[in-house]
Amino acid sequence: MDQAITEENRRSWNLIAGRRAGLALDHFRSGGNTLEDFERDLAGDVEGRHVVQLACSFGDEVLSWANLGARATGVDISDVAITIARGRAAEAGIAADFRRADMLDLPDDLTDIDLFYLSWGAICWVPDLTAWATLLAARTRPGGAVLLCDHHPVWEVLAVRAANALGVAGDYFGRGRPNTGQDAAKRPQGATTETFQPFVWPISDVVMALIGAGFQLNAFFEAPEPAIYGGLGRSAESLPAYYVIKAVRR
Ligand SMILES: C[S@@+](CC[C@H](N)C(=O)[O-])C[C@H]1O[C@@H](n2cnc3c(N)ncnc32)[C@H](O)[C@@H]1O
Repeated sequence: MDQAITEENRRSWNLIAGRRAGLALDHFRSGGNTLEDFERDLAGDVEGRHVVQLACSFGDEVLSWANLGARATGVDISDVAITIARGRAAEAGIAADFRRADMLDLPDDLTDIDLFYLSWGAICWVPDLTAWATLLAARTRPGGAVLLCDHHPVWEVLAVRAANALGVAGDYFGRGRPNTGQDAAKRPQGATTETFQPFVWPISDVVMALIGAGFQLNAFFEAPEPAIYGGLGRSAESLPAYYVIKAVRR
């Protein structure tokens, strides 16, 4: 069942991937990156470290980690996204490794990882949090970490109807059940409810899965970002939009 959903999602992302544009490559050629300050601060010095991004899409964040001196690897299930990412790295002249794989079935050689990074629309593609956290624990070196910066599940299940008016378009406690009622405004162009099946994971489940697998919580915060509640107005300042977890392998 999980495998069938993941396969539908892969097909769907293959259709969508080519429509998403990354930043101009000159930005990366001149050493730039797209990471938030808090992401860099939480990661610490990555010079010479192996950073692996799961669900890396067209690879801009992988190029960003590479520009910070990391040995950077990106993993994505979409064949199209990985082809685009490899092409962009080559054009930018940046050494980065891209693998086409399901993040729950990582290539065998990705072991002893210093930092697993996932961001902005990544955890919603995991059908089984325990399997995910257990795999990451097995592949992270002791003292290494997972850095997850993602959309808040409260944002995932809300739909803006008008200024200061919200509807509920999903189940915060949906867990391993795909969110077929997802607000259309949150789906990339070209994605349908039939083929695009994200999961909604309560943040407490994510935290407990990581702790249960052998990680220790090192940082955890939630934050607003009014712009992503487009049309809601000032009340968006009072809602969580994203959350960040850094968990260190014991
Ligand atoms: C919204 S993007 C990821 C976020 C990235 N930070 C960005 O902003 O582009 C979602 C990506 O997840 C990938 N994906 C979906 N399911 C996956 C899986 N099981 N394993 C690896 N990648 C997956 C998709 O192919 C897509 O490129």
